[in-house]
Amino acid sequence: MSQQRLKQYLKQMTLNEKIAQLLQLAAPFYDEVGDAGQITGPMESLGVTAETVHNAGSVLGVSGAEKVISVQQSHMKHNKYGIPLLFMADIVHGFKTIFPIPLAMGCSWDIALAERSAEIAAKEAAVSGIHVTFAPMADLVRDPRWGRVMESTGEDPYLNSLFARAMVRGFQGSDLKNDKERVASCVKHFAAYGLAEGGRDYNTVDLSERQLREYYLPAYQAALDEGAELVMTAFNTVDGIPASGNRRLMRDLLRSEWGFNGVLISDWAAIKEMIAHGVAEDGREAALKAILAGVDIDMMTSSYVHHLPQLIADGIIDEALIDEAVLRVLQLKERLGLFENPLRGADPEAERQIVYCDIHREAAKELALKSCVLLKNDGVLPLHRNQKIALIGPFAQSGDILGNWSWNGSRELSAKLGQSMQTLSVSSVTIVEGCGIDQITEGQIQEAVTVAEEADVVVLALGESSDMSGEASCRSDIRLPEAQLRLVQIMKKLGKPMAVVLFNGRPLDLHGVYEESNAVLEAWFPGSEGGAAVADLLYGIANPSGRLSMSFPYAVGQIPVYYNHFNTGRPKPSEDTDEKYVSHYLDIPNAPLLPFGYGLSYTSFCYKHLSLSSDEIGETDTLQVKVEVVNEGKLSGTETVQLYIRDVSGEVVRPMKELKAFRKAELAPGESIEVVFDITEKQLRYHHSDFSFTSDAGQFELFVGPNSRDTMNAFFRLNK
Ligand code: BGC
Repeated sequence: MSQQRLKQYLKQMTLNEKIAQLLQLAAPFYDEVGDAGQITGPMESLGVTAETVHNAGSVLGVSGAEKVISVQQSHMKHNKYGIPLLFMADIVHGFKTIFPIPLAMGCSWDIALAERSAEIAAKEAAVSGIHVTFAPMADLVRDPRWGRVMESTGEDPYLNSLFARAMVRGFQGSDLKNDKERVASCVKHFAAYGLAEGGRDYNTVDLSERQLREYYLPAYQAALDEGAELVMTAFNTVDGIPASGNRRLMRDLLRSEWGFNGVLISDWAAIKEMIAHGVAEDGREAALKAILAGVDIDMMTSSYVHHLPQLIADGIIDEALIDEAVLRVLQLKERLGLFENPLRGADPEAERQIVYCDIHREAAKELALKSCVLLKNDGVLPLHRNQKIALIGPFAQSGDILGNWSWNGSRELSAKLGQSMQTLSVSSVTIVEGCGIDQITEGQIQEAVTVAEEADVVVLALGESSDMSGEASCRSDIRLPEAQLRLVQIMKKLGKPMAVVLFNGRPLDLHGVYEESNAVLEAWFPGSEGGAAVADLLYGIANPSGRLSMSFPYAVGQIPVYYNHFNTGRPKPSEDTDEKYVSHYLDIPNAPLLPFGYGLSYTSFCYKHLSLSSDEIGETDTLQVKVEVVNEGKLSGTETVQLYIRDVSGEVVRPMKELKAFRKAELAPGESIEVVFDITEKQLRYHHSDFSFTSDAGQFELFVGPNSRDTMNAFFRLNK
């Protein structure tokens, strides 16, 4: 359909009909839609009429091919222009085949597999009738108290950008209009939602322009460079102004500076929330601020529907603002091919065949295998198949391993750890709960002790329930719940070799677990095939290769603790210094327990012969960095070779290390490989005091290693 035709709609439609296109309703509004168009859903709560519902532009959370087809057909009957509804949903890490949570995906450092996961999620969602997914979440995170770190790929802007791009490619493909197995991608939450003060959800975000541009913006921008069709606003304030009414952020930066011309949607009720924030007296003022900021769709409030008509009648805003927003919504429908085919991919037969099919579940398992991070191992892992294992803990046989935002996933169908281990064992795996997530009884203790005493190795399956992370699920104490720590203590006393598997949605404070165990495997929420993947890793059928994409703090008091921090004028010379007037804590180390990039393998890798092609480069030169990596162990394994750079003397203080490149190398025992990185001036640029994005002439330190802490270094100069 031509742009001309889309503009004609604008001419034909009444003001109210146009504004209704900017309304997004949630699923309950459509539970009651019948042929007669009688909608008896919760309209009263929103105070909208049936006419508005018939003209609404989009709906959130309705899925299932048959349901979507019936709602769309009924909608088309009642919409006098035949403008189809857009069906949107949060397909964050899978539709029904659930992949590891995004934080786990981040730990895979496997960009291609992340793209594949998004492609599969899109396919399942599309045949089930969805047109738009509210993903990826490109929010950079540094505070594990914040429950939504599980939805992010981590603390590094470069890694996050690669993942954001991959997810957009996977969701949208290269021909969104004709490829009905793809969905449009909405990058969220713009902007800097990950910096909520105190790690408390929805809380104030206040950061410098420099922080915003250097760390928080790159991943959203990467998603948009890759063509993401939509952007979602964030709940938080940015520089004192809620994102949904923030003109500088939305009009100036997003639209003018970045040239984004797609749909900007508010987060759930975020327009109305400007009243509670204290920047709008009432719904009218909230609507005014949002439309002026350039927000096109009002998710789940009636602020636009109720107040925009009067704001125009009173001459406060120009109708052109509405037309511009409606046109963007219509253009999105057009780009999805909905005018030609309002049902798009919705296909009950394909849905039955594709959703949760074996091929998709295999991909979910592959990603789970690559996302788990081995945090500690003194040799107790891998387990031998002829050992007697006591598998104890609330996650031993739990289906609660999908993680948040898996509303279509099935806990019942998910591969359970216990069963999967029993399948692999040639001896015995005895499974008991040992304790609940946060309670323990004497009976459970007795049972656990009895089973453990009989075993060669104790495996504890511990963690947080899914609802302890995700939206509105923040914690101030991020240790395992007391009951589980008690179980660890009791088991420890038995003196048996003990491995711990953790299922959780955030980096934890591992006091009470890490020191006490012989091995710790971080499984995160590994998704539908997670239990099977973890069992393979425990038995050494696969070798762990995940690397942390977010630091594990030593203690909550360090937060935020992240690898790419600045030095101070008084850096601590070493962790065991007794110098007083240096930047340190009296009671805990400065360093996190486990740094960004960290992860072990059942084999060991050695780095040798770091060399640079030159000790200086000019602006058009390429510096070749070579390093030899050797698998010195007895098993095949995958190493993630990481390259970091520090600008030793910048115009502005630069981070101690910044990830610039990495390579994954699969090596057989004894095998060695020469890894080569090409570095150019472009990778040395940053925002200067005048916000120009340039590099400094002078000295740079380059680091190569298996994580951000244990690196080899070399120096070079940039000549300009
Ligand atoms: C969340 C968004 C989500 C939206 C729709 C909000 O509460 O913050 O991430 O996309 O709900 O479900």
